[in-house]
Amino acid sequence: MKIKKVVEELDPYVPGRSIKEIARDYNLNPDEIIKLGSNENPLGTSSKAVDAVINDLKLMYRYPESDLKGLTSSIASYSGVSTEQVIIGGDGADEILDVLGKTLIDPGDEFIVTLPTYTYYEFTFKIHGAVPVYAKWNMPENKVNIDSILNSITSRTKIIFLCTPNNPTGGIIEKGDIKTILESTDSLVVVDEAYFEFSGENNVDLLKDYDNLFILRTFSKVMGLAGMRIGYGLGNSQLISYMKRVKPVFSLTRLSQIAAYATLTDTEYITESISVSIESRDYLYRELSKIPELDVYESKANYLLADIRRTGMNSPLICEKLLERGIIVRDCRSFRGLDDYWIRISVGTLEEDEKFINVLKQIIG
Ligand SMILES: Cc1ncc(COP(=O)(O)O)c(C=O)c1O
Repeated sequence: MKIKKVVEELDPYVPGRSIKEIARDYNLNPDEIIKLGSNENPLGTSSKAVDAVINDLKLMYRYPESDLKGLTSSIASYSGVSTEQVIIGGDGADEILDVLGKTLIDPGDEFIVTLPTYTYYEFTFKIHGAVPVYAKWNMPENKVNIDSILNSITSRTKIIFLCTPNNPTGGIIEKGDIKTILESTDSLVVVDEAYFEFSGENNVDLLKDYDNLFILRTFSKVMGLAGMRIGYGLGNSQLISYMKRVKPVFSLTRLSQIAAYATLTDTEYITESISVSIESRDYLYRELSKIPELDVYESKANYLLADIRRTGMNSPLICEKLLERGIIVRDCRSFRGLDDYWIRISVGTLEEDEKFINVLKQIIG
Protein backbone atom coordinates (compact mmCIF):
# COMPACT_ATOMS: atom_id res chain seq x y z
CA MET A 1 0.00 0.00 0.00
CA LYS A 2 1.33 3.40 -0.95
CA ILE A 3 0.36 6.30 1.32
CA LYS A 4 -0.03 9.77 -0.23
CA LYS A 5 3.32 11.60 -0.10
CA VAL A 6 1.90 14.67 1.68
CA VAL A 7 0.37 12.46 4.36
CA GLU A 8 3.60 10.52 4.85
CA GLU A 9 5.50 13.77 5.27
CA LEU A 10 2.86 15.65 7.29
CA ASP A 11 3.73 16.88 10.79
CA PRO A 12 0.82 15.87 13.02
CA TYR A 13 -1.38 18.71 14.29
CA VAL A 14 -0.74 19.37 18.01
CA PRO A 15 -3.99 20.17 19.81
CA GLY A 16 -4.29 21.54 23.37
CA ARG A 17 -4.35 18.79 26.02
CA SER A 18 -7.58 17.76 27.75
CA ILE A 19 -8.36 17.64 31.47
CA LYS A 20 -8.97 13.87 31.32
CA GLU A 21 -5.58 13.23 29.73
CA ILE A 22 -3.72 15.40 32.25
CA ALA A 23 -5.59 13.90 35.23
CA ARG A 24 -4.53 10.43 34.06
CA ASP A 25 -0.93 11.29 33.21
CA TYR A 26 -0.22 13.28 36.36
CA ASN A 27 -2.45 11.33 38.74
CA LEU A 28 -4.56 14.39 39.57
CA ASN A 29 -8.19 14.92 40.52
CA PRO A 30 -9.85 16.16 37.29
CA ASP A 31 -12.12 18.47 39.30
CA GLU A 32 -9.10 20.36 40.58
CA ILE A 33 -7.41 20.89 37.23
CA ILE A 34 -7.42 24.44 35.86
CA LYS A 35 -7.51 24.49 32.08
CA LEU A 36 -6.16 27.68 30.54
CA GLY A 37 -4.92 26.01 27.40
CA SER A 38 -7.56 26.02 24.65
CA ASN A 39 -9.25 29.45 24.69
CA GLU A 40 -12.59 28.09 25.90
CA ASN A 41 -15.35 30.00 27.71
CA PRO A 42 -14.74 30.09 31.48
CA LEU A 43 -18.50 30.54 32.10
CA GLY A 44 -19.23 27.09 30.65
CA THR A 45 -22.13 26.34 28.31
CA SER A 46 -25.32 28.43 28.06
CA SER A 47 -28.03 26.86 30.26
CA LYS A 48 -30.50 27.38 27.37
CA ALA A 49 -28.26 25.20 25.19
CA VAL A 50 -28.01 22.53 27.88
CA ASP A 51 -31.82 22.42 28.32
CA ALA A 52 -32.43 22.31 24.58
CA VAL A 53 -30.00 19.42 24.12
CA ILE A 54 -31.51 17.47 27.03
CA ASN A 55 -34.96 17.89 25.47
CA ASP A 56 -33.78 16.40 22.20
CA LEU A 57 -31.65 13.52 23.52
CA LYS A 58 -34.20 10.85 22.74
CA LEU A 59 -34.19 11.77 19.06
CA MET A 60 -30.57 10.79 18.56
CA TYR A 61 -31.70 7.91 16.34
CA ARG A 62 -32.90 10.44 13.74
CA TYR A 63 -30.62 11.94 11.09
CA PRO A 64 -29.91 15.65 11.48
CA GLU A 65 -31.47 18.29 9.25
CA SER A 66 -29.37 18.74 6.14
CA ASP A 67 -30.44 22.19 4.97
CA LEU A 68 -29.93 23.78 8.42
CA LYS A 69 -32.46 26.50 7.59
CA GLY A 70 -33.20 27.61 11.14
CA LEU A 71 -29.61 27.80 12.28
CA THR A 72 -28.51 29.43 9.02
CA SER A 73 -31.09 32.21 9.49
CA SER A 74 -30.10 32.83 13.05
CA ILE A 75 -26.38 32.96 12.18
CA ALA A 76 -27.20 35.30 9.28
CA SER A 77 -29.06 37.70 11.54
CA TYR A 78 -26.40 37.48 14.30
CA SER A 79 -23.76 38.32 11.68
CA GLY A 80 -25.70 40.87 9.62
CA VAL A 81 -25.59 38.99 6.28
CA SER A 82 -28.11 37.15 4.12
CA THR A 83 -28.70 33.41 4.49
CA GLU A 84 -27.06 32.67 1.10
CA GLN A 85 -23.82 34.05 2.48
CA VAL A 86 -23.59 31.50 5.31
CA ILE A 87 -22.08 28.01 5.45
CA ILE A 88 -22.02 25.95 8.65
CA GLY A 89 -19.42 23.31 9.51
CA GLY A 90 -19.78 20.26 11.73
CA ASP A 91 -16.18 19.92 12.88
CA GLY A 92 -16.02 23.53 13.88
CA ALA A 93 -14.30 26.22 11.86
CA ASP A 94 -11.69 23.55 11.09
CA GLU A 95 -14.22 21.80 8.85
CA ILE A 96 -14.90 25.04 7.01
CA LEU A 97 -11.16 25.26 6.32
CA ASP A 98 -11.19 21.73 4.95
CA VAL A 99 -14.20 22.54 2.74
CA LEU A 100 -12.40 25.62 1.43
CA GLY A 101 -9.46 23.38 0.56
CA LYS A 102 -11.74 20.89 -1.23
CA THR A 103 -13.44 23.70 -3.14
CA LEU A 104 -10.43 25.76 -4.19
CA ILE A 105 -7.17 23.87 -4.17
CA ASP A 106 -5.45 22.18 -7.09
CA PRO A 107 -2.13 20.53 -6.18
CA GLY A 108 0.73 23.03 -6.32
CA ASP A 109 -1.43 26.07 -5.50
CA GLU A 110 0.03 28.36 -2.87
CA PHE A 111 -1.45 29.81 0.30
CA ILE A 112 0.02 32.58 2.48
CA VAL A 113 0.16 32.48 6.27
CA THR A 114 1.66 35.12 8.58
CA LEU A 115 3.90 33.45 11.14
CA PRO A 116 3.15 32.88 13.94
CA THR A 117 -0.53 32.14 13.42
CA TYR A 118 -3.15 29.41 13.82
CA THR A 119 -1.43 26.22 12.67
CA TYR A 120 -4.46 24.39 11.30
CA TYR A 121 -4.40 26.44 8.08
CA GLU A 122 -1.09 24.93 7.11
CA PHE A 123 -2.02 21.46 8.33
CA THR A 124 -5.26 21.29 6.31
CA PHE A 125 -4.12 22.99 3.13
CA LYS A 126 -1.02 20.82 2.83
CA ILE A 127 -3.28 17.78 2.85
CA HIS A 128 -5.08 19.28 -0.14
CA GLY A 129 -1.74 19.51 -1.96
CA ALA A 130 -1.21 23.25 -1.51
CA VAL A 131 2.15 24.82 -0.73
CA PRO A 132 2.60 27.22 2.21
CA VAL A 133 4.28 30.56 1.67
CA TYR A 134 5.36 32.24 4.88
CA ALA A 135 4.76 35.94 5.49
CA LYS A 136 5.40 37.68 8.80
CA TRP A 137 3.61 38.79 11.91
CA ASN A 138 5.93 41.32 13.55
CA MET A 139 6.88 40.78 17.17
CA PRO A 140 7.26 42.56 19.56
CA GLU A 141 5.02 45.07 17.72
CA ASN A 142 2.29 42.39 17.55
CA LYS A 143 1.23 43.61 14.10
CA VAL A 144 0.86 41.96 10.75
CA ASN A 145 3.67 42.73 8.27
CA ILE A 146 1.67 43.84 5.24
CA ASP A 147 4.67 44.12 2.90
CA SER A 148 5.68 40.54 3.62
CA ILE A 149 2.21 39.45 2.47
CA LEU A 150 2.15 41.63 -0.62
CA ASN A 151 5.63 40.40 -1.59
CA SER A 152 4.52 36.77 -1.19
CA ILE A 153 1.65 36.98 -3.69
CA THR A 154 2.32 35.08 -6.93
CA SER A 155 0.19 33.83 -9.82
CA ARG A 156 -0.20 30.56 -7.84
CA THR A 157 -1.59 32.18 -4.68
CA LYS A 158 -5.07 30.79 -4.00
CA ILE A 159 -5.67 31.88 -0.43
CA ILE A 160 -4.29 34.41 2.04
CA PHE A 161 -5.02 33.77 5.71
CA LEU A 162 -5.43 36.74 8.05
CA CYS A 163 -6.22 35.88 11.64
CA THR A 164 -7.65 38.77 13.66
CA PRO A 165 -7.29 38.73 16.60
CA ASN A 166 -4.29 36.59 15.75
CA ASN A 167 -3.85 33.26 17.51
CA PRO A 168 -1.51 33.02 19.46
CA THR A 169 -0.35 36.65 19.65
CA GLY A 170 -3.69 38.39 20.35
CA GLY A 171 -3.00 41.39 18.09
CA ILE A 172 -5.54 42.60 15.56
CA ILE A 173 -5.26 43.53 11.88
CA GLU A 174 -6.55 46.99 11.02
CA LYS A 175 -9.44 47.15 8.56
CA GLY A 176 -7.39 49.43 6.29
CA ASP A 177 -4.69 46.74 6.04
CA ILE A 178 -7.28 44.09 5.21
CA LYS A 179 -8.63 46.34 2.44
CA THR A 180 -5.11 46.86 1.07
CA ILE A 181 -4.66 43.11 0.76
CA LEU A 182 -8.14 42.53 -0.69
CA GLU A 183 -7.39 45.14 -3.34
CA SER A 184 -3.97 43.68 -4.20
CA THR A 185 -5.18 40.26 -5.27
CA ASP A 186 -7.95 38.16 -6.81
CA SER A 187 -7.09 35.34 -4.41
CA LEU A 188 -9.48 34.53 -1.60
CA VAL A 189 -8.62 36.40 1.58
CA VAL A 190 -9.78 34.41 4.59
CA VAL A 191 -10.22 36.64 7.61
CA ASP A 192 -10.39 34.37 10.65
CA GLU A 193 -12.60 36.03 13.24
CA ALA A 194 -12.74 33.12 15.70
CA TYR A 195 -12.21 35.64 18.53
CA PHE A 196 -13.87 38.76 17.11
CA GLU A 197 -16.42 39.09 19.91
CA PHE A 198 -13.63 39.80 22.41
CA SER A 199 -12.14 42.53 20.24
CA GLY A 200 -15.27 44.57 19.61
CA GLU A 201 -14.40 44.69 15.89
CA ASN A 202 -15.33 42.72 12.80
CA ASN A 203 -15.06 42.95 9.01
CA VAL A 204 -18.51 41.89 7.84
CA ASP A 205 -19.11 45.34 6.32
CA LEU A 206 -16.37 44.58 3.76
CA LEU A 207 -18.31 41.61 2.33
CA LYS A 208 -20.51 43.89 0.25
CA ASP A 209 -17.51 45.44 -1.53
CA TYR A 210 -15.14 42.49 -1.86
CA ASP A 211 -16.13 39.20 -3.48
CA ASN A 212 -12.74 37.73 -2.56
CA LEU A 213 -13.37 38.07 1.20
CA PHE A 214 -14.34 35.09 3.34
CA ILE A 215 -14.89 35.38 7.08
CA LEU A 216 -14.34 32.35 9.32
CA ARG A 217 -16.01 32.01 12.72
CA THR A 218 -16.71 29.46 15.43
CA PHE A 219 -19.05 28.51 18.28
CA SER A 220 -16.06 27.15 20.25
CA LYS A 221 -15.01 30.36 21.95
CA VAL A 222 -17.49 32.94 23.21
CA MET A 223 -20.44 30.61 22.45
CA GLY A 224 -19.09 27.98 24.85
CA LEU A 225 -19.61 24.99 22.54
CA ALA A 226 -16.08 23.78 21.72
CA GLY A 227 -17.05 20.15 22.38
CA MET A 228 -20.00 20.34 19.96
CA ARG A 229 -17.77 21.33 17.00
CA ILE A 230 -19.69 24.07 15.19
CA GLY A 231 -18.11 26.64 12.89
CA TYR A 232 -19.35 28.89 10.13
CA GLY A 233 -18.15 30.93 7.22
CA LEU A 234 -19.49 34.10 5.61
CA GLY A 235 -18.74 34.85 2.00
CA ASN A 236 -20.13 35.64 -1.42
CA SER A 237 -23.13 33.46 -2.25
CA GLN A 238 -21.52 31.86 -5.31
CA LEU A 239 -18.52 30.61 -3.36
CA ILE A 240 -20.81 29.44 -0.55
CA SER A 241 -22.94 27.42 -2.98
CA TYR A 242 -19.84 25.67 -4.41
CA MET A 243 -18.64 24.94 -0.89
CA LYS A 244 -22.01 23.39 -0.03
CA ARG A 245 -21.54 20.93 -2.94
CA VAL A 246 -18.48 19.39 -1.30
CA LYS A 247 -19.26 19.76 2.40
CA PRO A 248 -20.21 16.50 4.17
CA VAL A 249 -24.02 16.63 4.22
CA PHE A 250 -24.68 15.53 7.79
CA SER A 251 -21.50 16.69 9.50
CA LEU A 252 -23.35 18.91 11.95
CA THR A 253 -25.04 16.60 14.46
CA ARG A 254 -28.63 17.14 15.65
CA LEU A 255 -27.45 18.05 19.13
CA SER A 256 -24.86 20.51 17.85
CA GLN A 257 -27.49 22.28 15.73
CA ILE A 258 -29.82 22.51 18.69
CA ALA A 259 -27.10 23.77 21.04
CA ALA A 260 -25.93 26.41 18.56
CA TYR A 261 -29.45 27.66 17.89
CA ALA A 262 -30.30 27.89 21.59
CA THR A 263 -27.05 29.71 22.40
CA LEU A 264 -27.76 32.39 19.81
CA THR A 265 -31.10 33.08 21.49
CA ASP A 266 -29.32 33.50 24.83
CA THR A 267 -28.09 37.04 24.30
CA GLU A 268 -27.63 37.58 28.03
CA TYR A 269 -25.18 34.65 28.14
CA ILE A 270 -23.26 35.93 25.12
CA THR A 271 -22.95 39.43 26.58
CA GLU A 272 -21.86 38.09 29.96
CA SER A 273 -19.38 35.70 28.36
CA ILE A 274 -17.71 38.57 26.57
CA SER A 275 -17.50 40.76 29.65
CA VAL A 276 -16.28 37.94 31.93
CA SER A 277 -13.53 37.05 29.47
CA ILE A 278 -12.45 40.65 28.99
CA GLU A 279 -12.35 41.16 32.77
CA SER A 280 -10.22 38.02 33.13
CA ARG A 281 -7.93 39.07 30.27
CA ASP A 282 -7.38 42.49 31.86
CA TYR A 283 -6.69 40.93 35.26
CA LEU A 284 -4.23 38.40 33.83
CA TYR A 285 -2.49 41.08 31.79
CA ARG A 286 -2.08 43.33 34.84
CA GLU A 287 -0.81 40.53 37.09
CA LEU A 288 1.49 38.92 34.51
CA SER A 289 2.96 42.32 33.66
CA LYS A 290 4.04 42.69 37.30
CA ILE A 291 6.25 39.58 37.07
CA PRO A 292 9.63 41.01 36.01
CA GLU A 293 10.82 37.84 34.24
CA LEU A 294 7.86 37.80 31.83
CA ASP A 295 7.11 39.77 28.69
CA VAL A 296 3.38 39.61 28.18
CA TYR A 297 1.63 40.96 25.09
CA GLU A 298 -1.57 42.97 25.03
CA SER A 299 -4.39 40.99 23.48
CA LYS A 300 -7.81 41.62 21.96
CA ALA A 301 -8.78 37.95 22.30
CA ASN A 302 -9.46 35.61 25.25
CA TYR A 303 -5.81 34.62 25.74
CA LEU A 304 -2.43 36.21 26.31
CA LEU A 305 0.94 35.34 24.86
CA ALA A 306 3.97 35.53 27.13
CA ASP A 307 7.67 35.36 26.34
CA ILE A 308 9.22 33.45 29.24
CA ARG A 309 12.91 33.32 28.26
CA ARG A 310 14.02 35.57 31.11
CA THR A 311 12.71 33.05 33.67
CA GLY A 312 15.66 30.82 32.71
CA MET A 313 13.18 28.08 31.78
CA ASN A 314 11.88 27.02 28.38
CA SER A 315 8.21 26.39 27.57
CA PRO A 316 8.25 22.58 27.97
CA LEU A 317 9.80 22.94 31.42
CA ILE A 318 7.47 25.66 32.67
CA CYS A 319 4.42 23.84 31.23
CA GLU A 320 5.52 20.61 32.90
CA LYS A 321 5.87 22.35 36.26
CA LEU A 322 2.41 23.87 35.84
CA LEU A 323 0.92 20.51 34.83
CA GLU A 324 2.37 18.82 37.92
CA ARG A 325 0.41 21.43 39.90
CA GLY A 326 -2.77 20.87 37.88
CA ILE A 327 -2.65 23.86 35.53
CA ILE A 328 -2.81 23.55 31.74
CA VAL A 329 -1.48 26.39 29.57
CA ARG A 330 -0.43 26.19 25.93
CA ASP A 331 3.20 25.42 25.14
CA CYS A 332 3.64 27.38 21.90
CA ARG A 333 6.54 25.36 20.43
CA SER A 334 4.18 23.87 17.85
CA PHE A 335 3.47 27.33 16.38
CA ARG A 336 5.80 27.77 13.41
CA GLY A 337 7.71 31.00 13.89
CA LEU A 338 7.92 30.79 17.70
CA ASP A 339 10.89 29.25 19.50
CA ASP A 340 10.97 27.30 22.79
CA TYR A 341 10.20 30.24 25.05
CA TRP A 342 6.54 31.13 24.59
CA ILE A 343 3.36 30.17 26.42
CA ARG A 344 -0.25 31.14 25.74
CA ILE A 345 -2.64 31.54 28.66
CA SER A 346 -6.41 31.44 28.13
CA VAL A 347 -8.76 33.43 30.33
CA GLY A 348 -10.28 31.58 33.28
CA THR A 349 -12.64 32.53 36.07
CA LEU A 350 -11.05 35.14 38.33
CA GLU A 351 -10.56 32.42 40.96
CA GLU A 352 -8.71 30.22 38.44
CA ASP A 353 -6.65 33.19 37.26
CA GLU A 354 -5.60 34.00 40.81
CA LYS A 355 -4.55 30.41 41.52
CA PHE A 356 -2.60 30.30 38.26
CA ILE A 357 -0.76 33.55 39.04
CA ASN A 358 0.20 32.30 42.51
CA VAL A 359 1.47 28.96 41.22
CA LEU A 360 3.39 30.65 38.40
CA LYS A 361 5.08 33.02 40.86
CA GLN A 362 6.13 30.03 43.02
CA ILE A 363 7.57 28.25 39.96
CA ILE A 364 9.51 31.29 38.78
CA GLY A 365 10.75 31.78 42.36
C1 LIG B 1 -7.88 31.32 15.08
C2 LIG B 1 -8.69 30.07 15.13
N1 LIG B 1 -9.42 29.75 14.06
C3 LIG B 1 -10.17 28.64 14.03
C4 LIG B 1 -10.19 27.79 15.12
C5 LIG B 1 -10.99 26.53 15.01
O1 LIG B 1 -12.07 26.51 15.85
P1 LIG B 1 -13.06 25.27 15.89
O2 LIG B 1 -12.61 24.25 14.90
O3 LIG B 1 -13.02 24.79 17.29
O4 LIG B 1 -14.38 25.87 15.51
C6 LIG B 1 -9.45 28.09 16.26
C7 LIG B 1 -9.45 27.18 17.40
O5 LIG B 1 -8.71 27.27 18.34
C8 LIG B 1 -8.66 29.26 16.25
O6 LIG B 1 -7.89 29.58 17.28
